Amino acid sequence: MRGEYRVKGAKNSALPILAAAVSKPGIHEIHDCPRIGDVFVMEEILRSLGADTCFEGNCLRADTRNMEGTVVSREIMSRMRSSVFLMGSLLARHGEATVHRPGGCRIGRRPIDIHIDGLSQMGFCVESRGEEIRCSGRCRGGRVRLPYPSVGATENLMMAALSGENETVIENCACEPEIADLQGFLRTCGFDVTGGGTSRIVVRGFSKGTHASGGAAAGDTMYFIVEDRIEAATYMAAVLATGGRAVFRNIRTEMLEEVLGVFKRMGAAIRSFDDTIEIIAPEKLKSPGIVVTSPFPGFPTDCQPQLMTLCTAAGGLTTIREEVFESRFTHKKELAKMGANIDICGKNAIIKGGLPLKGAEVSAADLRGGAALVIAGLSAGGETDVRDIYHIDRGYENFDEGLRQMGGIIERRTCD
Ligand code: EPZ
Repeated sequence: MRGEYRVKGAKNSALPILAAAVSKPGIHEIHDCPRIGDVFVMEEILRSLGADTCFEGNCLRADTRNMEGTVVSREIMSRMRSSVFLMGSLLARHGEATVHRPGGCRIGRRPIDIHIDGLSQMGFCVESRGEEIRCSGRCRGGRVRLPYPSVGATENLMMAALSGENETVIENCACEPEIADLQGFLRTCGFDVTGGGTSRIVVRGFSKGTHASGGAAAGDTMYFIVEDRIEAATYMAAVLATGGRAVFRNIRTEMLEEVLGVFKRMGAAIRSFDDTIEIIAPEKLKSPGIVVTSPFPGFPTDCQPQLMTLCTAAGGLTTIREEVFESRFTHKKELAKMGANIDICGKNAIIKGGLPLKGAEVSAADLRGGAALVIAGLSAGGETDVRDIYHIDRGYENFDEGLRQMGGIIERRTCD
């Protein structure tokens, strides 16, 4: 594959930001918003709560002035993990929220205990009744420390703290760039949030008697979402897997340091200037040795499946240790159908690379694993049929079109 690609807006920014729009009544224009399944579900959630939305191109306009709803239905919650963000934003707006245990990619148990414990520590009343969770009250301020730097819990608690009368300090936060982006949006809305993107976030509340909506005077906002570092890394992996070279626009190296480091260890030549990165594949990929996934700025778990595909083509033995989710190797058995030699031992995947993959019929089981199978199909001999691609459409906008533009021989078919 070769050519140029402009990286789109980040899925994992758009989702918390759209939820956060509930916190402040107004007309919010969200630009560079990816047209993906999960965003369409979030749009449906906002409408179910009373918002008006209009999605033109990559601009999603949400009018949240008349949103009285405080209950997110079980059906919608079951479709996407990010629906959990509505806990925080509804508490900020109305002081109450009823949600249900969220669904999402089956890559682990994915409990929400850190979210719930954090809300309780902040002074909210949280009642779990089976799958339903009711929360109410307002943030009393003070200090909350996360037991693990959970991305979603950090974002949820940031939003819930907006309702506080005092200052709330959240410690041991996740530091993903998408959290700094959520802070950017909240500050654009007039909220006083600092520290986003670091492990310590401070939210300064509003005067007595007003919820966030009262505190941040109603008004309109325009916001541009940060680039999707995971989309960029996915396309870069496709270029490396097919021995190509390409230039990526709208992506800064500081979003991908660890990933670019691993690609360089595999022999890739990488040049960057401003928000452009050029990547050139080596004649033969080398094993990167041992790669461990961890919270940002470590190697992102969302790039682990794509890396596993790459390592099947790299000479030598590679160990990938998945430290973030407990069952995020579902793509391994599908890659084995293509001839990959991979052993799973607990958290470790040991890949014996160097053997060319051969085309096969495989199925996506989650978003990033599905993308990894497409990359495998592009690099394998023969034709590969990737099924259940709705998983991929949840998180990548026009994935097949983007790959085709860069020379990938790929077409979308409706199954019989
Ligand atoms: C976010 O999920 C991302 N999703 C995920 O991207 C990403 O893989 C993950 O962060 C880690 O970077 C969005 O931003 C929409 P976590 P999230 O809370 O917030 C455990 C993709 O492919 N945990 O940081 O759910 C959890 O089970 C998706 O784009 C608890 O135990 O991730 C996991 O093992 C997949 N209790 C670990 O922490 C909790 O209350 C990290 O989860 C919360 C999390």
